[in-house]
This record gives sequence, structure tokens and C-alpha cells, in this order.
Amino acid sequence: MIFLKSDEEIELLRISNQIVAKTLAELAKLIQPGVSTGQLDKVAYEFIKDNGAVPGFLGYSGYPKSICTSVNEQVVHGIPSDEVILKEGDIVSVDCGVYKNGFHGDSAYTFCVGEVKPEIRNLLLTTKESLYKGIGEAVEGKRLGDIGFAIQNHCETKGYSVVREMIGHGVGRHLHEAPEVPNYGRKGNGVMLKSGMTIAIEPMINMGKRQLVFEKDGWTTRTIDRLPSAHFEHSIAIRHGKADILSSFEYIEQVLGNKAI
Ligand code: MF3
Ligand code: CO
Repeated sequence: MIFLKSDEEIELLRISNQIVAKTLAELAKLIQPGVSTGQLDKVAYEFIKDNGAVPGFLGYSGYPKSICTSVNEQVVHGIPSDEVILKEGDIVSVDCGVYKNGFHGDSAYTFCVGEVKPEIRNLLLTTKESLYKGIGEAVEGKRLGDIGFAIQNHCETKGYSVVREMIGHGVGRHLHEAPEVPNYGRKGNGVMLKSGMTIAIEPMINMGKRQLVFEKDGWTTRTIDRLPSAHFEHSIAIRHGKADILSSFEYIEQVLGNKAI
């Protein structure tokens, strides 16, 4: 069952997603060689609380932290730890969720730690571009397959592979709602998009093979060939005409300045 949101509900989703955006920007200030992902989690927890909200991931299906931090070959759902110290040349996907006023925000950004090899920066750039290509198709009257096709086409044309096991989702009163939003698909296929649908689009794109394996912790996924993976996510509302992006990378990119991808 796909829940259509009223204009008022969409504004509440925007409030949660704007707190996510600002939390990610706080973390952007700290991401550098020597910082642990456990430290990032603590800062996120405090910042979300200070904004009168609750971390949306904490306790979700037993998930133990407020953010997911997935380093290099880790794809998504990496668990922050004081033992994981970021080093020069790493990439780290930070996925953050916030719950406030009965609605969830959900957004992710992959950061560079110090100087990162050009070929890995290109993977990040292409993944972020593909997210916006997908959002470009997220318009009333188009279909879910149009979004997936746009993402897949953009990334595969550049020689990257699209993760299949993990996908985007509806977002609202629940973190994960119908419909499923794959990052692959065929034009004109799948559920028709209607004004008031709110979805999280989150391409996970690999440098090498598309297959994943789970780490022993039961949460973290990594690429089977241990080549790097990138992940960017926005929560959006479908409208007649252009999609309304409820989360934002603007605060992050202000912090990163000319170092932004
Ligand atoms: N954006 C992630 C997703 O939709 C959030 C995972 S939350 C977790 O899969 F609690 F499961 F980690
Ligand atoms: Co999500």
C-alpha cells in the first residue's frame, strides 16, 4: 500500500530531512584522516537530539547506531565504531535518518577522506549524477522503471555496476514504506508515480562487480571483489512537474567548498 502525503505531511517530511542535511554537514566538518566512525556517530546523535528529533536508524530492526558509515568496499549499513579510523584516500558513505513529528528523513552522502584517487572520485561523481538523473524522472505520470533506467543507464555507460540486492524505498511515517525503488529498470515499467508519493532514491554503485556479501556483523554489506562502492541518497516528493527534493546536499557542499565532488 503506497501512502500519498498531503501538503502538510510533506512539510513535516521536509523538516526531518533538513535536520538530516544539517547533521551530514556537521559530520562533513569532521571527516578527515584520524577520525573514527564511532566519533561521527556520537556527534550525529547529539546534533539530532539538540534539534528536538530522534535518530531514525537507532533501534530500527535492532540497528545499534544513529548513522551508517560504509568505508571503501563497504556498500551500505556499515556500523560506526571507535575502532574504524578513517585514513587518507578512503571514501566513506554516511547515511543518516531522523524522526520528528511522526515522519522520517533519510539521506546519504559519500565523502572523500583527504586526497582520493581520481578514478575513485569519478565513481563518486557518477553516482551523485545518477541520483539527479533518477530524480529528473521522478515526475507524476512516469513510472518507477523510468527512475531505475536513468540511474542504471548513466552508471553502466561509464563502466560501473549497479547493486541489485539493496534498493530505495517509500519514506514517511515509516522509514521503509512501499514502493520499492530499484536503481535499475526498464523505461515505462513498474508502478506509476503520483503526486504526493514520497520516496528515497539511493543508488549504490560499484567500481567492479555488482555482487555483495554480508560481513560477519550481519549488517555491513561489502563488494564481493573488494573494489570501492559509492552511495548517495535523497528523499523526494513526487509532484506534477519537477520533483521536490526534501533533503539537501547544500549544507554539506558549503562545508566542503571547492573540495566538493
Ligand atoms: N538509508 C538506509 C536504507 O534505507 C537506512 C538504513 S537504516 C538501518 O536502507 F537502520 F537499517 F541501518
Ligand atoms: Co534509505
